[in-house]
Amino acid sequence: MSNMKTTETKLTPFARDVLTGLEKENKSLPSKYFYDEEGDRLFQQIMNMPEYYLTRCEFEILAEQRNEICDAIGTTDAPFNLIEFGAGDGLKTKLLLKHLTDINADFTYYPVDISSNILNELKTGLKVEFPSLQVNPVHDDYFGALRQMEYFNKRRNVTLFLGSNIGNFHYDEAAVFLQQFVAGSRAGDMLLLGVDLKKDPKVISLAYDDPHGITAAFNLNLLTRMNKELGADFNPADFRHYTCYEPASGEVLSYLISLNDRQVYFRELDRTVSFKKNELIHTEISKKYTLEELEKLALSQGLELVSHFMDNKNYFTDTLFKI
Ligand code: AVJ
Repeated sequence: MSNMKTTETKLTPFARDVLTGLEKENKSLPSKYFYDEEGDRLFQQIMNMPEYYLTRCEFEILAEQRNEICDAIGTTDAPFNLIEFGAGDGLKTKLLLKHLTDINADFTYYPVDISSNILNELKTGLKVEFPSLQVNPVHDDYFGALRQMEYFNKRRNVTLFLGSNIGNFHYDEAAVFLQQFVAGSRAGDMLLLGVDLKKDPKVISLAYDDPHGITAAFNLNLLTRMNKELGADFNPADFRHYTCYEPASGEVLSYLISLNDRQVYFRELDRTVSFKKNELIHTEISKKYTLEELEKLALSQGLELVSHFMDNKNYFTDTLFKI
């Protein structure tokens, strides 16, 4: 990349992260930027696809075991904060919210999300469905939200981190995240962690390379977002979605591949980025665990295992931990 203009102007976090990611020898973009308005819509379509089993497995767990989960959390003991990292459209959380309001639990709900669009949608929906629920949306990424946690009510924190969102971290990054989470928690706080489990590799591959092309569109939307927000001139047809699952590490790696040599100009940054034919942009990791790996990860950061809640195929776990 060339030109100095960008060093003089204040860059948005998106612009800064795009520049950093595309200047590297192995290009990459943070997966948190998938979620603009179009990305939110495409992700909702992903969750509705039969191939993307994660959503239905976790829905089953929360629908069928919410009594046991809430009992184990101790939701009738004392007022608490219900914090949710990556709340999204709240489809699965609403099952818990319904149960908690039915049993008159005393809590404030703090949905955290990187997408202001989905947070607004969630807030509007909750007002209709749960008019008396106290909701405090937090528009931030995970690490930003961790720093905000200490300013929440000084009540017990019960945190939801569902949907296998933790899979977007490599193992070591997940350990750092949990370390900071534990550092910001107090004894008695709890974490319900949704994790996709290692299983038949074909089942996992199909969830990330669906025949409808929805996951491809979701991945390629990053290019469209850079066009919209940074004035880039990507043609999404010049790139292809590629994903592969490596069963030993449990990592699904997603890429955008440039189909030809080309240059892309970013008007808002006054920069040009060159791509070679077959050059990759790494866009996402979606890591899967065994129960043993998950326990090892959590226990290494001082979390205490309470219970695994799993679907009837043992594809997915919502595991409850205590600090
Ligand atoms: C929302 C991060 C859990 O990694 O499974 C779905 C996002 N990416 N299909 C995942 C996603 C491709 C999803 N998470």
